[in-house]
Amino acid sequence: PKPSADPPATTVKSYACQRRTPLKHHNTFLTDALEILAENAEFNENEGRSVAFRRSASVLKALPHVVRGMDDLKNLPCLGEHSVRVIKEILEDGTSSEVESTRQSEQYQAMKALTGVFGVGVKSADRWFREGLRRPLDLIHTGQKLNLAQQAGVQYYNDLNRPVTKREAVAISHIVEKAVNAVLSGAIITLMGGFRRGKEVGHDVDFLITHLEEGAEEGLMPKVLNWLEEQGLLLYQKTTRNSYLESKDGPARPPHNLDRFERCFSIFKLEKGKEGSGTSLNTSYDSGTTEGITGTTEQPGPSWRAVRVDLVVSPFSQFAFATLGWTGSKLFERELRRWAGQEKGMSLSSHALYDSKQRYLRANSEEEIFAHLGLEYIPPSERNA
Ligand code: GTP
Ligand code: MN
Ligand code: MN
Repeated sequence: PKPSADPPATTVKSYACQRRTPLKHHNTFLTDALEILAENAEFNENEGRSVAFRRSASVLKALPHVVRGMDDLKNLPCLGEHSVRVIKEILEDGTSSEVESTRQSEQYQAMKALTGVFGVGVKSADRWFREGLRRPLDLIHTGQKLNLAQQAGVQYYNDLNRPVTKREAVAISHIVEKAVNAVLSGAIITLMGGFRRGKEVGHDVDFLITHLEEGAEEGLMPKVLNWLEEQGLLLYQKTTRNSYLESKDGPARPPHNLDRFERCFSIFKLEKGKEGSGTSLNTSYDSGTTEGITGTTEQPGPSWRAVRVDLVVSPFSQFAFATLGWTGSKLFERELRRWAGQEKGMSLSSHALYDSKQRYLRANSEEEIFAHLGLEYIPPSERNA
């Protein structure tokens, strides 16, 4: 057969969980802009609009080439009229006036700064914004009543807004392994979230902990936290049952399973110089400070930094679901649940998968879950939707 004159048009599937989305892609100049609008929609509590912009951005992330003209958008799914207008403006003028005015707006900047405080959600930030507050320090100056999470958020604001490096994530892994092994032998600790998807930096470090022996993981979280506390490694922690979206997208399931599933939002105290031990590399945080041999030189700043850490404990029977659910990206997860519901009549959560007849579908690996869902397996490094 003769080669055709035109290369085949790129086909992109419409659900993010049907596509491969690498970490690095070709259209950051467009996706950054769309994601500003998505973020701004979240600040205005317009979830539908926010998801629409995120889906548009995500489609562009999956393209194997740079978008140079409107022709390149032909046949692409999920691109709403508004997103297309923004993309067109950027392709023609280099910038989008809507994106630029959003970026410059007092509301966007204040909401970004205030929600950047750990423990502060859109609702509180919006209330404070309407009361005239603009920056995190305004919370202190105006004597706002803060809960414990927010107090920690203000106290460690600078550290928590400084990206966590892979090296620091590895150092935290060693601490978590030590803590877990001290209270239960044979537990399995896995790095989740962005770092599992291959990111080099993150806003936190996410771990999933399980044990081959079903039930051995019960009561593990408080013991681990006690150990960390005793070692002086915890700056803040809050443990909750993991009931994320449970009422919304999960059918009834045995309550005892839920009871055992726990998560903890925490802030660790990480000694500087502890990370990367065992190699001669010495990357520092922001100011080019290098650590001398510990203890022999005066440190200009504190000798430690605060790092956000999420811990999740899962019974082994739910481990595959928890692994899939905590790897992300957030949009990829959302699209998986949407695919399950809308295309398969199934129900997926980070605990289980139920088919359209409410039958539980067992899975021992992420591959098996994708297979149950009738999806091609997408590895973590391609889930950066
Ligand atoms: P960075 O931390 O910014 O690098 O990105 P990340 O992808 O690691 O984001 P994050 O730590 O916020 O979330 C990691 C994964 O955990 C994502 O897949 C989220 O969907 C998931 N996640 C976050 N919160 C919850 C929750 O309360 N319950 C469950 N089941 N999953 C959650
Ligand atoms: Mn994370
Ligand atoms: Mn997290």
